[in-house]
Amino acid sequence: MAEKVPSLKDLAISISENATIIEDFLVANDRPHLSFAATGDQMLPMGPEFEHVQDARITLIGKAKLLLDLALGPIDGVKNLSFSNLHDLGALSVIYRYNIPSLVALEGETPIGEISKATGLSERRLLTVLRQLMLHHVFYEPRENCVAHTARSALLVRDPNAMDWLGHIAVECLPPTAKLSEALEVFGSTDKDNEAAFNLTFNTKENCIQYISSHPLSAKRFGGALAFLGDGDAVSYEGIVQIYPWGQLGVSKIVDVGGGRGRLSFALAEKYSDLTFVVQDQPEMGKHIEYPPHLMDRVSFEVHDFFTPQPIVAEVYLLGAVLHDWPDNKAIEIIQNLVAAMKDGARIILAENVKMQSGSQPYFFEAIIRAMDMQMLTMFNSQERTLADWKALMQKADHRLEFCRVVSPPGHFSALEFVFHT
Ligand SMILES: C[S@@+](CC[C@H](N)C(=O)[O-])C[C@H]1O[C@@H](n2cnc3c(N)ncnc32)[C@H](O)[C@@H]1O
Repeated sequence: MAEKVPSLKDLAISISENATIIEDFLVANDRPHLSFAATGDQMLPMGPEFEHVQDARITLIGKAKLLLDLALGPIDGVKNLSFSNLHDLGALSVIYRYNIPSLVALEGETPIGEISKATGLSERRLLTVLRQLMLHHVFYEPRENCVAHTARSALLVRDPNAMDWLGHIAVECLPPTAKLSEALEVFGSTDKDNEAAFNLTFNTKENCIQYISSHPLSAKRFGGALAFLGDGDAVSYEGIVQIYPWGQLGVSKIVDVGGGRGRLSFALAEKYSDLTFVVQDQPEMGKHIEYPPHLMDRVSFEVHDFFTPQPIVAEVYLLGAVLHDWPDNKAIEIIQNLVAAMKDGARIILAENVKMQSGSQPYFFEAIIRAMDMQMLTMFNSQERTLADWKALMQKADHRLEFCRVVSPPGHFSALEFVFHT
């Protein structure tokens, strides 16, 4: 049976309806039309009071993607998917390596000759690379052989995390992606955390996390990349910060295990003054934490390896996007090291993706979860997990961990809560 799709005309009507919701909002709030201009704010606002605008945007993206794919048809669709995407990534790697965004003036335009002089790359090669990206509104050419910023390229200058993200993709992720099919053949159906495409590519027996942690530049890029990934409307903690009933925990100490730069702890500490947090991670992560002065007394950092017994007795152990980095056997080890410190009634809260059935979510959300699943496979020989996978994993780690609830704000990380009974 063929996949059911609306007609082109019905898609166009839905696109028009949702575009109208967005346009009406912009007009009513005295905001300019969305554009690619490097100046001004091109983001639609987020937050509960703008839910109808974001819903319209998410629907619009899904319908527009369907319309584009139908219009491309099978032959051009396959070419577009493989050929264009392949070279988009190649071009992005070049602009990262030569730090090209910072060589283009944020206002006005920069002659290609100037970028050529600064990078040592010929004008011809630069234009090949930059014009590929201009197809995606990363830079534009206001006059022949002159380059100017768009909102997307300017973001790479203004937000260091965006550039870290690009670097992480270009340096740590793209080469293993090219090796994925080979790795699947070489390693077979392994569950070892050091038998991923990443290991084949970098010829290392260290798992991806160990390797990245022991390379300071990679570790810095990874930290920035995680922060960037959490911005925007998907793969963010915002939903569970708002919706999960953290207030019911009362006065509690929360250990944020593998907490990175503490982004989840800081977001929660900001909203819930009864909660105190200890962020645990590897030494390198602690170096990059920026503490808002008003939260210094409620959020602290401690070096702790989560493959060793947990030293802190607390009410709650929080693991944000930690276990998805690990195959089941290692994830179980991490949990068992927590259980050793847990008292009756203590909780483990996982902030993770819950993988759904194909087609059961809007395209925008599903696309990012599918990419995360591929990312886990490629880099860590791991995976995103379904609710059934999560429950089974925790039971396998310790049968005294009882599943309590899952809170799943659409498109955001879910909170999965387990309580420990002695
Ligand atoms: C995907 S990141 C998530 C970070 C953080 N929870 C967040 O969401 O921003 C996984 C984290 O696990 C940390 N990690 C990896 N191996 C670890 C270990 N053996 N002990 C402690 N932390 C570790 C990494 O340094 C990284 O910060």
